[in-house]
Amino acid sequence: MKAQLEAIKSAAIAAVNAANDQDEIEALRVQYLGKKGELTAILKQMGSLSPEERPVMGQLVNEAKAAVESLIAEKTTAMKAKAQEEKLKAETIDITLPAKPVNKGKLHPLNTVLDDMIDIFVSMGFDVVDGPEVETDHYNFECLNVPADHPARDMQDTFYLGENLLLRTQTSAAQIRTMENRKPPIRVICPGRVFRADEVDATHSPVFHQIEGLVVDKGITMCDLKGVLEQFAQEIYGKDTQVKFRPSFFPFTEPSVEVDVTCSECGGKGCRVCKGSGWIEILGAGMVHPNVLRSCGIDPEEYSGFAFGIGLDRLTTTRYKISDIRLLFENDKRFLEQF
Ligand code: DAH
Repeated sequence: MKAQLEAIKSAAIAAVNAANDQDEIEALRVQYLGKKGELTAILKQMGSLSPEERPVMGQLVNEAKAAVESLIAEKTTAMKAKAQEEKLKAETIDITLPAKPVNKGKLHPLNTVLDDMIDIFVSMGFDVVDGPEVETDHYNFECLNVPADHPARDMQDTFYLGENLLLRTQTSAAQIRTMENRKPPIRVICPGRVFRADEVDATHSPVFHQIEGLVVDKGITMCDLKGVLEQFAQEIYGKDTQVKFRPSFFPFTEPSVEVDVTCSECGGKGCRVCKGSGWIEILGAGMVHPNVLRSCGIDPEEYSGFAFGIGLDRLTTTRYKISDIRLLFENDKRFLEQF
């Protein structure tokens, strides 16, 4: 029996030593130390021993069990440590690898120019207001003194969304919404996208940007309009910039003007950008028509005002010498990353 015990013990020790993973060890534990295990089974043969031999044998079996148990514990700890080490090794970050590039966002050139313009007007006391891009005929035309059959509707090719709904063709619609919501003195600008069903080419896009301006108060004159626009032009283009008013027509202003500034490219001498004229047209403006004031419940006998609409896209393409307006809308990263 002793020899049998020795044989089982050394077989168990050899097997545990040869085991390669924790599953194998567990299987060996069951095989030798489990309830029906080989070392447990041997205890059951004790009945055949003499009373003197029993404790001796019992002790030997316990020693054998303890030896196998402690070897299993030792192996298990070693295996766990090894597994942990391997896991850490696999998860090591190689700090010598080059870092992943971080894509840094930039402002779109239109936003840069818009931010500059907003700063200038805010410094002159204007508030910035917002208006919806989907407008009603009422705000986009009717209240701006352009009734249904007025020929001035042909000045702007409109995207209609329904009988009375349209994509705003001009930020001028915001003038009406402002005058409905505020009492004079009013001093606001409204930047935003506008839409027209124009032929698309290097200088025309079906979507472009305007900045509407509106001032209404007692005693506002054309001189105020000229002063504000001159100040604006000189801050945007430089101190020597001159501003020229040309008579024009807009249904919502009387008198109406188109405003040119000296070409920033040639300083007024004449070049390719200004087509030899020395001037660049940047906006339309005028004194708010009494009908428009009246349609918003403002008495034109008491109040007067001026309004203007600046084309943001033209200002941006001339500042950055961008030859094609479509580049502003294509979102080509190769183009945008240059700014
Ligand atoms: N809304 C005009 C356009 O899109 C521009 C304009 C002209 C706006 C005169 C105004 C204005 O506020 O007074 O062509």
